[in-house]
This record gives sequence, C-alpha cells and structure tokens, in this order.
Amino acid sequence: MPSRAPRRARAPLVAPVRLRLVMLVAPAAVRIRRSRAVSLRMSPTVMARTPRARIAPAVVDQLRSGARDSLLVVASTYRPMLSAAMSKCHGWRKNPVCFVVKSPTLFPTFNAALKSSMLQGTQLFLRNIVLEANADVRSFYDSDQTFADANLAAFYGVQAPASGFAQFKLPASSGRAGILGQAGLIAAQSQADRTSPTRRGIFILESLLCITPPTPPQGVNTMLAVDKTLTTREILEAHRKDPTCANCHALFDPLGIAMEHFDPIGRYREQENGLPIDATGSVGGMSFDGVAQLGGVLRQDPRALSCLLSNFYRNANGRAEDDKDRDQIDSMGKSLAARNYVWKSFLTDFVASDAFRSAPALPVTTGSP
Ligand code: HEC
Repeated sequence: MPSRAPRRARAPLVAPVRLRLVMLVAPAAVRIRRSRAVSLRMSPTVMARTPRARIAPAVVDQLRSGARDSLLVVASTYRPMLSAAMSKCHGWRKNPVCFVVKSPTLFPTFNAALKSSMLQGTQLFLRNIVLEANADVRSFYDSDQTFADANLAAFYGVQAPASGFAQFKLPASSGRAGILGQAGLIAAQSQADRTSPTRRGIFILESLLCITPPTPPQGVNTMLAVDKTLTTREILEAHRKDPTCANCHALFDPLGIAMEHFDPIGRYREQENGLPIDATGSVGGMSFDGVAQLGGVLRQDPRALSCLLSNFYRNANGRAEDDKDRDQIDSMGKSLAARNYVWKSFLTDFVASDAFRSAPALPVTTGSP
C-alpha cells in the first residue's frame, strides 16, 4: 500500500459497520454536469462514502494515469465485492453482523469480540483479493486463503497468531474456500438457533448469481419443523415433495445445503443430530460437495462473474443497470479476462474509459446496490 495515499481513503476499509452499511446502500440521485461527472460518480464508488462525499480531482487523475496501487482503487473494488458478498443482508441496515443474535444457551461464545473478528477477517479477505499482486478476482469464490486472529483460529483450523490477524492457507479439512467459507457470512445467513439452507441459498442466488427468487407466498408456515431424528436437509426435502413449495424452494435450498457443514455460528461440523451431513448438490449442471467445491463451481459459472460485474457497474454508475447496459457489462467481462482477471488492472481501464466518464449517473431505481 502506498504510504502517501490520502488518509480518508482508509475509511471504507476499516470504518465501523454502520458506515459501511451506508456505503452499501449509498448511491443516490446524482445530477451532474459533465465536468463534474467523474468526481461525483467516483464518490460512492471509490470513496465508498455517502454520495455527497467527493473525490478530489487530483485523485481521479491519479486513477486515470494508472496508479494501480492507490488505496482508492482498492476501495472502489472492495465495496462492490462486499456488496456482492453481503447484499442479501437487507436486514443489515437494522441487523448487521455485529448485531446478529444467536441463542446464548447454544452459542455462549458468540460474543461481540467474536463478531467483530469475523467482520474484520472478511474485510481482510476481500482486501487481499484486491491488493495482492496479480490477484485473480475469481478467487473471491474459491480462494484457499483466509485471515484469522485468536478468536477465529479454531474456526479455520489454524494456529492462533501471537497477536492481531494473520493470513493463513486454509487446511483442506476446514471444508472452506472463498467468500462462502467466511465464518461471519455463514453466521449472518443463519437463524439464531439453527442453520438455514433456505436463507443461505437465497443469498447465493441473489448476491452471487444476481437471480432474484420469488417472494414467499402469504400464509405459508415458515417455521421449520423440529425433528431431532432428521437432518435439516431431510426436513427440507420433505417439504419440497409438495410441488407448491418445490416451485421456489428447489431454486435455493439445494444451494444453501452446500453450507450445511457449518453450524449457525460458522463452525465446521461433521454431523447434525448425530447423523452425517450430506452437503452435495449441483448448480448449472455442475455438482459439488460442500462450499469449497461450490466455490470452484461458481468460479467457472459465467453468471457469477457477470453478477460481480453488474454489482460493480451499479456502484460505479450509481444506478441499477438496464438492458442497454448489458453490452457494456459484457465488454467489461471481456476486458477483465484480457487483464487476466486482475481487478486492479481492469479497474484502471474502466475508470479511464469513455463509457464511465461520459455516461450520465442517474438515481438508483431498482435492485440492490
Ligand atoms: C413463491 C416462492 C415460495 C413458495 C411457493 C414457498 N416458499 Fe417458503 N420461502 C420462500 C422464500 C423467498 C423464503 C425466505 C424468506 C426469508 O427468510 O426472507 C421462504 C422461507 C421458508 C421457510 C423458512 C426457512 C428458514 O430456514 O427459515 C420455510 C420453512 C418455508 N419457506 C416453507 C415453505 C413451504 C412448506 C412451502 C409450501 C407450502 C413454501 N415455503 C412455499 C419462498 C417460497
């Protein structure tokens, strides 16, 4: 990291949860004259602050001239990635990870310090994908690297560092890879006392594949049956036998099942109710067993990368993309591939492109940021 990067650029990387949540939902109406278009549009993107914050013209120049190690470049990517990773958490505005509640009887160790470590670990994970020299952005899905402090070491099956956070290669036995292996994300996509393949699957579908599932019908009992002689997978399979339920639940529950090796606070487990866990499934015609394999599948699924780029595009332009923007997003995909999927290189091209500099920024109309 360059030591002389503006201090304010640090804010999005280490800011308190609440500020980052603002960032996730930040893009708003930005009516601008051409001469100010870049600086204003860069504000939610690069500065990852509220839309009113502006990036100094000098920094735009720095970006345009290819200062790829700029913290600002990093921040601009960090936010859409975080958004991609967390955007299903609509509740985050009210219920961010630091406020996630777990049953104190079942999970007495799930305290504020652990939650904060989880969040920080995920931030470091994302940041590393952006910062690491020649980092392939697709490692977002299947990276074997993680960051842990003493609170998190046991989660990831690594030795606790003497102090602070350290980077680790995940042991295969951890069953983890990529963003879906992040304990904080797993905990956030679970209920207080049980896992929720439904919620986890909806998260994968919406946030990583940009597919919006239908809203649940009125009047359905969404209290999951309690049966200690079955696994959650079996309970869900039972209600999918009803075609009315399967219509929707077949879209997301089987995806969320990939995360069943992780309990409601994100710890690895072999069994549930004394029964072995089956985390197998398939997506886009490719099968997986657990999140590490699912990450590998997502890495190869063109819908996943296109979703990441759409999220980025929304953030960059401060609005949801429409059909006309698809071509632009497709060409961004091509330019990313041409840059060997190195996000920093791609981003510098993007910021310098006419498409970015001259397109009008409009209010966000639909979709999540
Ligand atoms: C139109 C789509 C749709 C249909 C049809 C549907 N659901 Fe759902 N269901 C959802 C969605 C979306 C959620 C997630 C709600 C949320 O958490 O925001 C959900 C959540 C649930 C949950 C809670 C899961 C959890 O882990 O908390 C249960 C249980 C459930 N549905 C059961 C059923 C049953 C039983 C049927 C059939 C009678 C059914 N659903 C039909 C979309 C649907």
